[in-house]
Amino acid sequence: MIQSPRRKRAYVETYGCQMNISDSELMEGILEESGYDIVDAPEDADVVLVNTCAIREHAEKRVLGRVSQLNGLKRENPDLVIAVTGCMAQRMGEKLLREAPYVQLVVGPDGYRSLPETLAKLDVGADVGLSHEIGKAGRKGRQLAVLTLDMDENYQGLEQRRSEGPSAWIPIQRGCDHRCTFCIVPYVRGGEKNRSAKDVVAEVRGLAESGVTEVTLLGQTVNSYLWEGVDFPHLLRDVARVDGIRRVRFTSPHPNDVSDELVEVMAAEPAVCEHLHLPAQSGNDRTLKRMLRRYTVGYLLEKVSLVREAMPGIALSTDIIVAFPGETEDEFRDTLDLMRTVRFDEAFTYKYSLRAGTPATRLPAEDFIGGDEAQARLVELIEVSRAIQSEINHAEVGRIDEVLIEAEARDLGQVRGRTRRNKVVVFDGEVARVGEYTHVALERTTGATFAGSEVAEPLPVPV
Ligand code: 5AD
Repeated sequence: MIQSPRRKRAYVETYGCQMNISDSELMEGILEESGYDIVDAPEDADVVLVNTCAIREHAEKRVLGRVSQLNGLKRENPDLVIAVTGCMAQRMGEKLLREAPYVQLVVGPDGYRSLPETLAKLDVGADVGLSHEIGKAGRKGRQLAVLTLDMDENYQGLEQRRSEGPSAWIPIQRGCDHRCTFCIVPYVRGGEKNRSAKDVVAEVRGLAESGVTEVTLLGQTVNSYLWEGVDFPHLLRDVARVDGIRRVRFTSPHPNDVSDELVEVMAAEPAVCEHLHLPAQSGNDRTLKRMLRRYTVGYLLEKVSLVREAMPGIALSTDIIVAFPGETEDEFRDTLDLMRTVRFDEAFTYKYSLRAGTPATRLPAEDFIGGDEAQARLVELIEVSRAIQSEINHAEVGRIDEVLIEAEARDLGQVRGRTRRNKVVVFDGEVARVGEYTHVALERTTGATFAGSEVAEPLPVPV
């Protein structure tokens, strides 16, 4: 039976960090450019790409569960190609193809440019226009792995397929040159590669012309960015000065590159938001040293003071790992002390997760901390950081803040937005207003997020 040809259809599902969201947009852009339709459900697709994270074991377990679920779909539609992309694909490689034999393709973070050719080798959608029999015989059981890390691949010149809306992710750097002993990223994403500053600014200009008003610059250590003499503070300033851009954010910075110049630009440029993510990881010098973070607690506290002096009221967030191998109870207490000293507005907290191939795995076996003890530390840290967050946010009730409306809220007739200080606020509003800026009086808080009502823009305070 001969059918008329149709466009091939791809569905991309994302796990992990902002860089992965941005990578998924990149893959969608590449596939669309080569003739695929991007669809919203795996049931409608010829190929499902699961873009993955390798940062902790938990992230990988979720993906394994998900691909086995997708295999259910493949049983109904044997032509469906399941691909696993990104960090976990890079880390597990062919092992993943053996463990999940229904996965036909693994592609690491540097293999996206050639995705259309790679998929062509698996004859995605090729039964159309051919007899079913020939189509199936052509690709039965084939598996492919694309795992070469390429120091020159920074995806320059390729267009992301961005979802509509006021905000855009802008990858400016890929990979990482640090070797924090717990972290898998340098092994799955390779060394640091930066994009041309001119390209980045041109991209932001184009986005601003198409209605984007908020951009987030992305990189694994985003503030160590350097391209032909243009460093991060310089790039940040250029991006912040693009006409039409009202908010600029960036993530994730390394504390060592929070320079005086960076803080000056943040304070001076009205578009740069009053929020800084400062991943501390630990509040103990011996642990920081063994993590190879290359700073001390004293240094972190100095940076916090510098930033707060330049931008009073700036919101700070952090990442913390508990139960790093060898962390003593007292050393863990130092982390709690750091939380109480700095009083972060938000803390992302993690139990150490062993990642094969990272330097920390070579620490003595007896240093590894048992599950119960690690869990108890995590629970205590979460309690402390949530209590601080709640105190900070309760003290902010009564403020009037500028909010960018980002999405429909869970409740009918309400919208969700974000303040410049990265606080989430829900209030009455129509979904048609997504993308607008407004002013909202913060009236209540759950401790983590706010509820409020729109008010007229406050008059500037006379000097
Ligand atoms: N175990 C636990 N947490 C980790 N992170 C990175 N690697 C690990 C690991 N092996 C955390 C760090 C990092 C965040 C993105 O994830 O806190 O900043």
